[in-house]
Amino acid sequence: MTRRPPTRATPGSTADGTDGSGGTDGSEGADVFANNCAGCHGADGNSGSAADLSDEVPGKSDSELESVILNGVGSMPGLALSAGDVTAVVTYLRATFP
Ligand code: HEC
Repeated sequence: MTRRPPTRATPGSTADGTDGSGGTDGSEGADVFANNCAGCHGADGNSGSAADLSDEVPGKSDSELESVILNGVGSMPGLALSAGDVTAVVTYLRATFP
């Protein structure tokens, strides 16, 4: 029989993703992405029917990304996200598609 050490929670980890940290670590942005973008772009941003985000994100500035999200572009509609959600999802995009 193997004895396991007790599982320790990592300090600062959030199982529910609702820590309200402002998205600086990208975890809040991941939720925003899953809820608002994944339907068209795919859960990983590259597998949906829309643009491949690993191609699109690196060449755009934060303000260009914010504009795309809020105003839409081409066949992408603008999305009614709060400023905090936009900031969080841009942070997530930067971390995910460097
Ligand atoms: C209703 C479907 C849909 C949703 C929802 C959606 N997108 Fe898009 N997105 C598209 C399509 C379609 C394009 C390609 C637009 C074109 O060039 O005609 C696109 C393009 C983009 C681009 C590239 C823009 C460019 O200048 O070519 C980025 C970045 C992007 N989406 C990010 C996001 C993010 C972030 C979200 C969520 C906050 C999101 N999209 C939600 C459909 C969607």
